[in-house]
Amino acid sequence: MKVIGISGSPINNSNTDRGVTAVLEATGAETEFIKLIDYTVAPCKGCLGCLKTNRCVIKDDGIELAQKVKDADALVVGGFTPYSTLDSRTKAFLERLYPLRHKYGFLVGKPVASVITTGVPEGVEGMPPAGEMGAKAIQFFAMEEGMNYVGHVVIEGNVPCIKCGHHKECAVDGIEMIYGPGATVESVGIHSFEDQEAAFLGASDLGQKIGSVLNAEGSDKG
Ligand SMILES: Cc1cc2nc3c(=O)[nH]c(=O)nc-3n(C[C@H](O)[C@H](O)[C@H](O)COP(=O)(O)O)c2cc1C
Repeated sequence: MKVIGISGSPINNSNTDRGVTAVLEATGAETEFIKLIDYTVAPCKGCLGCLKTNRCVIKDDGIELAQKVKDADALVVGGFTPYSTLDSRTKAFLERLYPLRHKYGFLVGKPVASVITTGVPEGVEGMPPAGEMGAKAIQFFAMEEGMNYVGHVVIEGNVPCIKCGHHKECAVDGIEMIYGPGATVESVGIHSFEDQEAAFLGASDLGQKIGSVLNAEGSDKG
């Protein structure tokens, strides 16, 4: 049994990467971690050139990744939420799994879990629900492909404005926008996946759920 984890976060060893890895480790299965920034994956162009062949006509790494997903027994998808929705790299990757759909439904029943990292924490009044938007994008993809959606965890990440050094003079300071007037880099702090019990335990739980589904499938096969 093999589970692959995909991270759409371009940042090295990011919260998203670590969350995806935690889910993978808890599956107890053989795993492979893939970082989308290391691949070139254009979005689907809607040409339907894959209808008869189950293979995309775009000659980039999307073909190899679709093959890896097809061969895997389960999938973990990690993304982040620029402008409060799923990042474009992760979205393009999901779109490029469309060739696996036609006639055979190669994704049907495959377990999938997601990890979403946001700059905006859940429940901030007046701000979009980034975690929910990102998670729903993957959940609805899974639903439309007939996959077994196991669930998601949302990690509170870091608004990029903490790195810029000019947020106090900035007309669109994300720190005060999210955390209120007077908030500073120091008062907000740096958010790490490992410090967030709900996300940490949630990731482990998701991995164990995937492991249980795969074990049950293994026993059925005999
Ligand atoms: C261009 C850009 C725009 C962003 N806009 C939002 C946003 O609207 N809402 C949000 O929750 N996070 C936003 N973020 C923050 C990311 O979600 C956050 O940095 C997240 O921690 C990245 O995940 P990582 O730490 O795993 O790389 C934005 C990040 C970038 C780079």
